[in-house]
Amino acid sequence: MKSVVVEEFGTSDALRVVESALPHLGPEDVLVRVAGAGLNWIDVSLRAGRLAAGGLTAPAPRYGMGWDVAGIVESVGAQVTRHRPGDRVIGLRDVLGTPGTHAEYVALHQDAVTAAPAGADLVDAGGFPLAGVTALGALATSGASRDDTVLVTGAGGVIGTLCVSIAVSRGIEVTAVGRGLDADRLTALGVNVVDGDPDAVGATLASRVRALVPRGVDAVIDTANLGIAAHEALRGGGTFVALVRPFAPPPLRGTDVRVHEAWADPALLAEAVALVDTGVIELPRTRRLPLTLVAEAHDVMEAGGLRGRIVLVP
Ligand SMILES: NC(=O)c1ccc[n+]([C@@H]2O[C@H](COP(=O)([O-])OP(=O)(O)OC[C@H]3O[C@@H](n4cnc5c(N)ncnc54)[C@H](OP(=O)(O)O)[C@@H]3O)[C@@H](O)[C@H]2O)c1
Repeated sequence: MKSVVVEEFGTSDALRVVESALPHLGPEDVLVRVAGAGLNWIDVSLRAGRLAAGGLTAPAPRYGMGWDVAGIVESVGAQVTRHRPGDRVIGLRDVLGTPGTHAEYVALHQDAVTAAPAGADLVDAGGFPLAGVTALGALATSGASRDDTVLVTGAGGVIGTLCVSIAVSRGIEVTAVGRGLDADRLTALGVNVVDGDPDAVGATLASRVRALVPRGVDAVIDTANLGIAAHEALRGGGTFVALVRPFAPPPLRGTDVRVHEAWADPALLAEAVALVDTGVIELPRTRRLPLTLVAEAHDVMEAGGLRGRIVLVP
């Protein structure tokens, strides 16, 4: 089968599409025939060597790429009870150093796999797993509940948009920081919108947020990695949620700074699917590219301005 690996960190030229045997299937594993596999920032960071530089990966001769997957169960290990061949599933690989999802087949522990959203196109569903669990996890980490005020940065992005929709459905008051091009889509979600482009307006981000929420917001979910600029919009005692550790600012005014880093929580995977099934959230928009064009996919993502997920199709 084909799969994408890196053997040396670097630009997208470092990506290799290789032929290999089918992944080993452990007794509690599910072999998934990949229909679509989203490309996430963690793939770009791994390829570029940023995870290794941050001490998050051991140097390895070869890394399999890809975390997200949607597809059809091909076969199951002897002790698998919850999935059967033919099931439509989404899943998340969560261990560095194991074969990835940017491949024709992937083996995942049965707990890292759940039924795909009912009726969803499986290629589109392949762009959802990591974003879905991260949005749910970040909201849980924020501790926000009904009538609290939350600032979501990068609200036009994949995780940001999911955070906004879920928060609104819970009666949380949301101020969304997007770019100019995101304004109409975010306004349609029924939230306050602030332009996060520093060149767009003279005032600081925090002062623009405080014009809408004078005492400061109860929590910030910083999916755009704005760090201190977003932290200043927080009220004393509020909670700042960073999604990438190096962008977590130092706490100010007794605020609580937390880093949400739990990538693959199977309970959240099923909960995220339930939110799609009940219409609370929509699957992220997708742009499809063949698996063999994975280097082009990385380049498009790194160029910025993408709205939605690139999904690699084997
Ligand atoms: N902790 C975890 O478990 C975990 C899991 C998954 C992802 N993450 C992290 O979460 C972050 C978001 O991921 P994602 O998949 O949602 O990425 P994404 O779709 O690229 O969203 C990020 C958004 O932020 C926007 N943005 C950047 N600077 C901005 C500014 N000054 N004002 C307004 N918007 C701005 C980007 O717009 P442009 O494209 O126009 O710049 C983009 O729309 C990434 O850093 C990723 O590494 C963490």
